[in-house]
Amino acid sequence: MTPDLSVSIGAWRLTNPLIAASGCFGYGVEYADAVDLASLGGVAVKGLFLKEREGHPPPRIVETPSGMLNAIGLQGIGVHRFVAEKLPELRALRAAVLVNICGTTIDEYVELARILSDAEGVAALELNISCPNIKEGGITFGCSLTGTHAVVSAVRKVTRLPVIPKLTPNVTDVATFARAAEEAGADGVSLVNTFLAMVIDVETRRPKISNIVGGLSGPAIRPIAVRMVYECRQTVKIPILGMGGIADTRDALEFMIAGADAVQVGTANFVDPLIWPKLLDGLADYLQRHNIARIADLVGTIDTRARDQEWISS
Ligand SMILES: Cc1cc2nc3c(=O)[nH]c(=O)nc-3n(C[C@H](O)[C@H](O)[C@H](O)COP(=O)(O)O)c2cc1C
Repeated sequence: MTPDLSVSIGAWRLTNPLIAASGCFGYGVEYADAVDLASLGGVAVKGLFLKEREGHPPPRIVETPSGMLNAIGLQGIGVHRFVAEKLPELRALRAAVLVNICGTTIDEYVELARILSDAEGVAALELNISCPNIKEGGITFGCSLTGTHAVVSAVRKVTRLPVIPKLTPNVTDVATFARAAEEAGADGVSLVNTFLAMVIDVETRRPKISNIVGGLSGPAIRPIAVRMVYECRQTVKIPILGMGGIADTRDALEFMIAGADAVQVGTANFVDPLIWPKLLDGLADYLQRHNIARIADLVGTIDTRARDQEWISS
């Protein structure tokens, strides 16, 4: 029996739970020669503002133990060029496109949502309210419960597309932000964006990236991200798109068992852009070995009984 890998995020039905994470897969089309985009559950494209942006000057990335620090500063082509130049190609490649949108005001998020709702070939909107690398807007909403609620409910009013705010881990209690998003009408939540971090060159005593601080991603953050997904799963009913350091099948399964309905893979793309078929095969193999017919049935099945209880019942 072939296991059923499909999952649902609101009205968005994904053929499998694997999504390329925003900022780590370009606009998807750059990878089309190497990766069959239609074989992915979804492609989250690089964060888009209304207008084009240059981002921060280099150096913008540096490798860290088991991860990387980046402060790209949301360089991008802007929504109009995206709709005109990239979406048609993504449609032709049959990619399920999750568009990551960024604004400095609520009105900008609303306008982006309107434009993308009228465009053909958008599966869902991911509201980036969590980029740690820019000072204006975005993360200001994501670090405030009322701000999170306000952005989500404003976007909710103007679109029928699934609305998925992306949460920052740079808060004390991420689950309260997931709840604020749920109460505002979100169809799901993505977590986590990167952790605010810093690397210094001790010889020159200079920060290793131009923005001084940046966002940490990769396997170094995975156990914290898994914990945050678990906490959100205890708090909200809406689907969770979990991410943070997924580099192989076991990592993806960990997130799903903790409560993620789908998972995103970011930094690992820079190490192994051909990771996707390996992950897909790995998930199918796991379900077969564990006699699970549908991957959706695995979500949130973590067994948290005390160890002595486990011993008594086995
Ligand atoms: C170079 C780089 C650029 C990123 N750009 C974005 C972005 O534009 N929008 C966004 O929501 N997240 C962005 N992220 C965050 C990732 O989508 C993801 O949330 C984070 O890196 C954790 O997952 P990972 O450890 O698998 O990379 C970026 C991450 C990296 C490393």
